[in-house]
Amino acid sequence: MKFFIDTANLDQIREANELGILDGVTTNPTLMAKEGIKGTEAIAKHYLTICEMVDGPVSAEVLGTTFEGMVEEGKKLAAIHKNIVVKIPMTKDGIKAIKWFTDNDIQTNCTLVFSAGQAILAAKAGATYVSPFIGRIDDSSWDGVQLIEQIVKIYMAQGFMTEVLAASIRTPLHIVRCAEAGADVCTCPLPSILGLLKHPLTDLGLAQFLNDAKSMQ
Ligand code: E4P
Repeated sequence: MKFFIDTANLDQIREANELGILDGVTTNPTLMAKEGIKGTEAIAKHYLTICEMVDGPVSAEVLGTTFEGMVEEGKKLAAIHKNIVVKIPMTKDGIKAIKWFTDNDIQTNCTLVFSAGQAILAAKAGATYVSPFIGRIDDSSWDGVQLIEQIVKIYMAQGFMTEVLAASIRTPLHIVRCAEAGADVCTCPLPSILGLLKHPLTDLGLAQFLNDAKSMQ
């Protein structure tokens, strides 16, 4: 399973990248706004900085909602760097735009996916990635990981090439369960990635080893 970081914060991207396990980055308008990025030029500059930091796919979301608007905007985003993946919302115009980008060899990430039916449409349109939002599903008291399992099963049965990118990750356990469910990619906030490191027995064991090592010196 590939690890993407789900942020537009450069310090967090750097920290995750330094672990040596980072395969890519996803952003969305909320995450970009949180960093105070405003205006076409600043947005493009920020995406370029991220692309120069991480050698892997970087999802950049369109802000338009019409087919024509998404295509125009997506073309500009894709021109920023070869690793840009145009992120498109799961709407009727979005599906048309994904098909357009597929036909023009531009990678896409279909976002805001909450059902298997939507995931089938994204794959039919040739999306490179499909992003089911598992945390938001859990927030509505359904099981987000079950959706990942269902989509993985359907894509395998149908031979779809679209990669299942588990998004809206909230906890380290989400990452573990998505790996178990067969997600191709997990996009995670930094604390969830770092949370995978933690186990009290590791801390206790290390403390004991370090203490016993004193008698060896
Ligand atoms: C990433 O592609 C999604 O936009 C992101 O994971 C959404 O996460 P949230 O539900 O925590 O906002």
